Amino acid sequence: MKFFVFLAFLIFLNVAEPFALDCDFFETWFDTNLIYGCWSTILRTPSTNTVTSITGVHVIGKSNCDVTYLDIRGNFELPFFPKGIASFFPNVVHLLIGESMIPALYGDELNNFPHLERFLFAANRPLTTIPSRLFEKTPKVTSITIYFTNLQRVGHNLFKPLNISQLQYLILDDNLCVNRRASTQTEIRQLIGDLQELCPYPDENLQLQITSDSIVCRDEKIIIDGLQEELLDKNVRIGFLENELQKMIIKNDELKTKLYE
Ligand SMILES: *[C@@H]1O[C@H](CO)[C@@H](O)[C@H](O)[C@H]1NC(C)=O
Repeated sequence: MKFFVFLAFLIFLNVAEPFALDCDFFETWFDTNLIYGCWSTILRTPSTNTVTSITGVHVIGKSNCDVTYLDIRGNFELPFFPKGIASFFPNVVHLLIGESMIPALYGDELNNFPHLERFLFAANRPLTTIPSRLFEKTPKVTSITIYFTNLQRVGHNLFKPLNISQLQYLILDDNLCVNRRASTQTEIRQLIGDLQELCPYPDENLQLQITSDSIVCRDEKIIIDGLQEELLDKNVRIGFLENELQKMIIKNDELKTKLYE
């Protein structure tokens, strides 16, 4: 009995532990603009993936709302894309993340960054897939850099929400399926066209689309085949089938399941 009380206490500690993003705030020139940013290193892997507070001392006269540049590279063990950042920094224009161990992007990571123009996701080996929805809520994106990952699949509609005429560069160096960069309109359009062949994502719509708080799938059978065990075992582990071969397990204690059709 004592052991279980102790165990419950440990679990409580784990759940209650906050996730503070520790910022070094700075001002710097980018092109011809003076921008205000946070550079952050997460010293220890947090037990929750949602940022609960920001620490660090602002430059005089500045506040969280002035932050347009956010650099969270160099958190070498970080096993997830931190959630909830936009509730502290709603005006991020430049988002740089990487040198981390984020296993997957589910497509909703950028949803709360409507002002985003530059996205860099780099040196994150475990990444294999970029779903079509990633830029759905960030129509102003003009610069994309994704390099040094195990990327194999790119959603066919990834660039659909963007105005391709406004794309300035697309750097996709040193990924498993693509090692190219483009910086002119012609090159960019060529690369976007070629991606479907280089990094095909067959049956993306049949895959389970998992976000951190929902699971959506058009084909119920896949859910049943793929998730039965995990759903029965509510041990906060949800699995899904990728290409019906590769099974990925994600662990997320906030996960709720939402099944459509
Ligand atoms: C896309 O960008 C071009 C160049 O800036 C602009 O002329 C065009 O109106 C934009 N299209 C849309 C749909 O916003």
